[in-house]
Amino acid sequence: MKTLTVDLGERSYPIYIGAGLLSQKELLTPYVSGSQVMIVSNDVVAPLYLEQVKKLFVDFQCQHVILPDGEKYKTLSDLNLIYDALLSNHFDRYCTLVALGGGVVGDMTGYAAASYQRGVNFIQIPTTLLSQVDSSVGGKTGVNHALGKNMIGAFHQPSCVIADINTLNTLEDNQLSAGLAEVIKYGFIRLPEFINWYENNIDTLLARDPQALSYAIEVSCQCKAEIVAADELEGGIRALLNLGHTFGHAIESGTGYGNWLHGEAVGIGMLMAADLSCREGWLTDQDVQRVKKIIEASRLPVLLPKIMTYEKFMDLMRVDKKVRDGKINFILYNKLGDAKITHNFSAEHLRQTIEHFQVTK
Ligand SMILES: NC(=O)c1ccc[n+]([C@@H]2O[C@H](COP(=O)([O-])OP(=O)(O)OC[C@H]3O[C@@H](n4cnc5c(N)ncnc54)[C@H](O)[C@@H]3O)[C@@H](O)[C@H]2O)c1
Ligand SMILES: [Zn+2]
Repeated sequence: MKTLTVDLGERSYPIYIGAGLLSQKELLTPYVSGSQVMIVSNDVVAPLYLEQVKKLFVDFQCQHVILPDGEKYKTLSDLNLIYDALLSNHFDRYCTLVALGGGVVGDMTGYAAASYQRGVNFIQIPTTLLSQVDSSVGGKTGVNHALGKNMIGAFHQPSCVIADINTLNTLEDNQLSAGLAEVIKYGFIRLPEFINWYENNIDTLLARDPQALSYAIEVSCQCKAEIVAADELEGGIRALLNLGHTFGHAIESGTGYGNWLHGEAVGIGMLMAADLSCREGWLTDQDVQRVKKIIEASRLPVLLPKIMTYEKFMDLMRVDKKVRDGKINFILYNKLGDAKITHNFSAEHLRQTIEHFQVTK
């Protein structure tokens, strides 16, 4: 088992990464507050892992609530299912919520924990690669709005994160690839050496080699933990973690939540950011080809869905959280392994980039 720490002073918390952690009761119980535990999961993950996880909480008054599966249910109205379960079971403000599932369950449970009785304790048990390397760490919680992704939310840090890599064995192949998009993101943002490692290990990762997966999760969580510790509320450097996400969020909401996986949208978004950076003269054509090869080899799409025209992108990107004073800020590259936030790019280049990835070309 590997233990990392998100260093946030009194609110610091550990990330445990390893195989078989869901049978280690002693690992978890120190992070439970109060006597009441509400496990939040969904109808895909619960049949696989709920019974096992309930055993970890036999010493507590443990209940569960099962959400419908999928990004399209990451809404305010579905969030009510969690509040309903908490209130009807008389949960007090010392209770603990446990998120058992991928990023959707994690973000929703986190937001329920941030808002229930003005804030209660919560534990993250991420079960997708994407949630183990990204969404379970850092305290961003929330739900979507029909007009914009993750637009309703709060910062609320968990008291611990338990990433059991055995849970990845039941994941669909396309979900594994979606998680890999967030893994390679850390390389593109600030770990040039890790890009090399990733290129040499893509096939091993896709074959779910436990050692390769553990290493990729550790590097990712370490990178995210450092960035979050330096800038918890995203005043500066944390924004770099949104590489590919301005394009990606537009694709996710433009195609209808759930039709494109978050990681798929982020994958092509990072490639589009490379293309735009190249048009600005910051990356070479070879750099862009390298990014494209990595995205393709990770079995992620490199062409846009037809519906994502230039006009559609512009409409959707205007509500992105990185818009400030009417200007769209993008995360672009100084070079591969060194990202920056900027609004200094040509509008014409942005149009060319979007059109370049359209299927009709
Ligand atoms: N909070 C953050 O910082 C942050 C960061 C990145 C992404 N996100 C959010 O995370 C979400 C995406 O997360 P995700 O990719 O985990 O999606 P997800 O939660 O929808 O999970 C993907 C699918 O895999 C299923 N699943 C989960 N664990 C499984 C397992 N072990 N075996 C089999 N199936 C399993 C889920 O039920 C779902 O059908 C998006 O809503 C995104 O906005 C948040
Ligand atoms: Zn993401």
